[in-house]
Amino acid sequence: MEDATRCVHAALDPEPTTGAVHIPIFQTSTYVQNDFADHKGFEYARGDNPTRNTLQSAIATLESPDQEAYAYCFGSGMAAITTITQMLQSGDHIIACNDLYGGTIRLFNQVLSRYDISVTYTDFISQDFSSCVQENTKLLWLETPTNPLLSVHDIQDLAMQAKSKGIIVVVDSTFATPIIQRPLHLGADMVVHSTTKYIGGHSDVIGGCVVTNNVELSDQLRFLQNATGGVPGPFDCFLTLRGLRTLELRMKRHCENAEYIATHLQNHPKVTKIFYPGLETHKSHIVAKKQMNYYGGMISLELEGGESAARAFAKNLKLFATAESLGGIESLINHPWTMTHASVPEEQRIEAGLSPGLVRLSVGIESTQDLLDDINHSLEKVFSD
Ligand SMILES: Cc1ncc(COP(=O)(O)O)c(C=O)c1O
Repeated sequence: MEDATRCVHAALDPEPTTGAVHIPIFQTSTYVQNDFADHKGFEYARGDNPTRNTLQSAIATLESPDQEAYAYCFGSGMAAITTITQMLQSGDHIIACNDLYGGTIRLFNQVLSRYDISVTYTDFISQDFSSCVQENTKLLWLETPTNPLLSVHDIQDLAMQAKSKGIIVVVDSTFATPIIQRPLHLGADMVVHSTTKYIGGHSDVIGGCVVTNNVELSDQLRFLQNATGGVPGPFDCFLTLRGLRTLELRMKRHCENAEYIATHLQNHPKVTKIFYPGLETHKSHIVAKKQMNYYGGMISLELEGGESAARAFAKNLKLFATAESLGGIESLINHPWTMTHASVPEEQRIEAGLSPGLVRLSVGIESTQDLLDDINHSLEKVFSD
């Protein structure tokens, strides 16, 4: 079966009471029991909800079509990430890539530090994986492609190294989705997504999920999902599931558009740096070519003139709205320095390669030519004024 079919048919079972084609929104907090602790498998909606269970099954099937996997959904990507970190103990250590979503860095630096959990950030080049390992290292945290510089980490290679030392491997695959890469097949133990982004796909719902093919980890996730309670509501699950049905179609268009735009922009005289894994000049292109089916819908770039040029560029765009987030059908532009990564200490931002002149484009599914015309028009305005 191919992904286009899988997206539509994953967990598409008729609802047993009515035969409804799509799972209804089970807007209930609790379920009547026949007798004390005698019920139909549903006790209380923090533990189980049919709408959420259907979304979880669909995501698990997409992330791991050939091998049994288990997905757990949360009220946001950050709630999903937090739940993974709740598997750790005080005194544990994480190795993480240094270019990461700012909210993840904030959680690691400002929340986990309260519990004496420490993090070593690396680009895996200046300091390789093995030199970061400590006796208390429990987790390798990879984001690939990274937010916002779109670095691609070699999941298979790093997972092999980590697992030989008993370290659990987590991949935040939000920018890729299962249409582009399947980290569990490459040796990762857990995959996390902000389903707010491409999986939901319409910028109208916040959510997150964790997927694993490891039964022990699955048991822990199920326990933590109920024990700590960061679950999504049924309407949010319904919207996310509705988005997921068209994921393959949308991802292909996002990727085609981004590749076309990045190719055109790479030779633009006013674009001083461009980050897109599909370009041969990108530092991770060779790994991306091996690991990814397509190169994604995100592009980051710097313009001659730095921050003021970036600001003018954003202001003159008509089809790219300035906003946080990404992965929706509509194009967006973001300024990581003052927006998504503002909470990261300046020194750490610079160390990771961010600059005040960097902008990040989430390329939507609009007409390719309209988007490129919009960008070219804005660049002309910025550099003629
Ligand atoms: C790569 C990545 N992971 C996780 C998150 C957090 O997701 P959420 O905003 O749904 O909490 C984001 C948000 O931008 C992200 O870009």
